[in-house]
Amino acid sequence: MDKIVALCKRRGFIFPASEIYGGIANTYDYGHYGVLLKNNVVAQWWKAMIQDRDDIVALDSAIIQHPRTWEASGHLAGFTDPLVDCRTCKQRFRADHLQELQCGCAPSKHPGEDPRCDLTDAREFNLMFETTVGPVKEAGATVYLRPETAQGIFLDFKQVLQFARRKPPFGIAQVGKSFRNEITPGNFVFRTLEFEQMEMEFFVPPDQAQHWYEHWLRERFDWYVRLGIDPEHLRLRAHDADELSHYSSATSDVEYLYPIGWSELEGIANRGDFDLTQHAQHSGERLEYVDPQSGERYIPHVIEPAAGVGRSLLAFLCDAYDEDEIGGERRTVLRLHPALAPVKVAVLPLLRKDGHPELARAVYEQLRRHVKTEYDDGGAIGRRYRRQDEIGTPFAVTIDHQSTDDRTVTLRERDTLEQERVPIDGLAQLLAGRLAVE
Ligand code: GAP
Repeated sequence: MDKIVALCKRRGFIFPASEIYGGIANTYDYGHYGVLLKNNVVAQWWKAMIQDRDDIVALDSAIIQHPRTWEASGHLAGFTDPLVDCRTCKQRFRADHLQELQCGCAPSKHPGEDPRCDLTDAREFNLMFETTVGPVKEAGATVYLRPETAQGIFLDFKQVLQFARRKPPFGIAQVGKSFRNEITPGNFVFRTLEFEQMEMEFFVPPDQAQHWYEHWLRERFDWYVRLGIDPEHLRLRAHDADELSHYSSATSDVEYLYPIGWSELEGIANRGDFDLTQHAQHSGERLEYVDPQSGERYIPHVIEPAAGVGRSLLAFLCDAYDEDEIGGERRTVLRLHPALAPVKVAVLPLLRKDGHPELARAVYEQLRRHVKTEYDDGGAIGRRYRRQDEIGTPFAVTIDHQSTDDRTVTLRERDTLEQERVPIDGLAQLLAGRLAVE
């Protein structure tokens, strides 16, 4: 993990937020390449949900919803972690994670193990962030930053049913920020206070719930494999009954073998009719499907694949990270799937003279219209290759002496390191073919 964190900082993918003030726990900012990588992860998720199938529609609901949402969803009463305080070191710990945490007085021990530790009994703390709507805090209404994007989907179920003219089975997909007051150390972007979720609620006739649960387990596992994660580093793990969330009758996690060990990457839950029933009761609206032909009415059951953008991105980075040796020199390389790579091709003039920069600039202008391209003329060519390898750029195009004579360039491939001579004319089409996602 230390190597991934160092690479992310060195190349400006991800770094601690508010660093000039000493940082803020479990909170990170994404820099240029981090934003590009994150956008590509999200774009691939949308592609799998919206472009590659025709039974899911998109939604972007509000972060701050009516406060009764969280009463109905069960989050106000039940979305809590058990916490203990130490009266000696004044630190607060997750009562169920003590064995993973360090004592505030004796860091080699766990909280409670040192004679100086003086822990309170465990108390339940709600994970939702609270704020106030209205100009006067005392008189305003207490509202919450959403702890999951899912609830906005349930609130809009009826609207979508009408304007999208859908009948179950169909899904509503959404990507957006969620917020949780996490106090457990986050392990980089694995657990953060604010994070993006990619969630899809798939509404099905009750007797099809098991079929679709199994369908989404397979689909979501395969999505990670298609985007380059070694299947040996992924597994599906069904939750035991005592692990299930208050809304779920069955949940399985897609787990990834992170450097911190097997951990949840995405959860796939059978939420049954819990959410629609709860919101119907609390709002007085009928949230059900009525078949226009038969008149049959029922409350659909919901299968929910819920992924985190940060956790996915971290898994893609961990799996792509590699170190090898070229001509006796160490190189760090991100073997990212081309669809995820922040930059697809780098254009590099060999020299800063002899017409190389002018031709390289023209090639760059041509390629950037098709794919994310970077122009780099700073430093020795070997160093420029290393720089691109570190950010996972699949191809580098080098303009040299021969290029100005015969309008050919060398095309270097990140993983095999093969270099081939190819004509400038048709280069964009050649690269488009090699970068294509099947
Ligand atoms: N709507 C269901 C739901 O929110 P969850 O398992 O609590 O389920 C879904 O969250 C996914 O969101 C997780 O698998 C994880 O990828 C991501 N996630 C949850 N809490 C997170 C946090 N504090 N930081 C980063 N990602 C988080």
